[in-house]
Amino acid sequence: MYNFDEIIDRTHTNALNTDGFRGYIFHADETMQFPFKDEEFIRMWVADMEFATPDVIIDAMKERLDRRIFGYTSLFGNEYYNAFASWCKRRYDWTFDASDLFSSNGIIPALYELVEYICKEDEKLLFLTPSYAYFKYAADFNHKEAVCCDLVCEDGYYTIDFDDLAEKAADEKTTLMIFCNPHNPSGRVWTEEELAKIADIVSKNNMWIISDEIHCDLLRKGLKHIPMGKVMPDYTRLITAMAPSKTFNIAGLMFSNILIRDLGLRAIWKERHYGFDNPLSIVAAQAAYEKGEPWLNELSAYLDENFKFVGEYLAEHLPKAKYRISEATYLAWVDLNAYFTPEESLTMFFAYEAGVLLEGGNMFVQNSDGFIRLNLACPKATVAEGLKRICESVNSKK
Ligand SMILES: Cc1ncc(COP(=O)(O)O)c(C=O)c1O
Repeated sequence: MYNFDEIIDRTHTNALNTDGFRGYIFHADETMQFPFKDEEFIRMWVADMEFATPDVIIDAMKERLDRRIFGYTSLFGNEYYNAFASWCKRRYDWTFDASDLFSSNGIIPALYELVEYICKEDEKLLFLTPSYAYFKYAADFNHKEAVCCDLVCEDGYYTIDFDDLAEKAADEKTTLMIFCNPHNPSGRVWTEEELAKIADIVSKNNMWIISDEIHCDLLRKGLKHIPMGKVMPDYTRLITAMAPSKTFNIAGLMFSNILIRDLGLRAIWKERHYGFDNPLSIVAAQAAYEKGEPWLNELSAYLDENFKFVGEYLAEHLPKAKYRISEATYLAWVDLNAYFTPEESLTMFFAYEAGVLLEGGNMFVQNSDGFIRLNLACPKATVAEGLKRICESVNSKK
């Protein structure tokens, strides 16, 4: 019903993906040259999608445009809460109070703020590595020490070293864990047992935990997301972050849900957070949760096929690559250590040799050398061309 094969031109829309990659990936300006023209790149890097946002969302924004005034706006009343809460009930069998819900212009800005509000001067924050780099940036920005727990990877399957985690969490200066559930970049959907162990370690040490669940709507068929809020129903030092941004390709609308239980933290948030939202973003998010499910179901099936295709293609053309279909996200995480030395920048290699923009392991804090992250939220034809170029460039590598 929806056409995920359509190739949509994003150039000259101020999209980071097309127009801003030099700055973000290479910390360079427009003088940086490649053996490819910009429009010749296959772009499989930043986590937004090449698919059109569903019509139900665009229609809601159009209706709001017709109201013609765009003054200061925030979440008033219960309409948005009802839409989002019913999404969570339906999909995760999880409920939360309206008073828990706050909005933020993105999860990243909320992380930066929450670290500031939660961690005192010499306190540290903990996360699992490889990691989405902004967890580390949130620590750096607030001059807090980042404590990393390396995940264990066996045959491409990542698990948590709970002994290491327990030891690091026991440090009384480590007061906050930022937890990615499901995990970017490994794609793991943590099991109930794993979540219970995390909950146990966190609560024993009376730590704060921010559960970043931004990828929770994007799971492979048959898998189920368990919100940390369900595992720790009464734990007040839990903050949950969810958003329609990844799910419905509206990251640029900068709207996310931050669920805060602790009354003291809520008071600080209310006092210090800049509490306005974009009027178009609110209606978009509400429409997504109310009417976006049929689109998401089709998208999920399309993504499942892309993941399958990548596995088959790599097995044939790059047999020493280690790959496992990600349980969640639209991001593939591929181990190319058989073909590269740990010092090589894979981001550079594939940009220059293959004309593919992707994120190399160096962009995920640590414990990620020799890996690439590929964004598969693209039309099949784009994924196929990207994979062809990747495999050819590796196979002709000197
Ligand atoms: C784990 C994780 N958290 C947060 C974000 C971005 O959040 P936002 O766009 O709401 O700031 C991303 C984007 O890739 C992500 O992977």
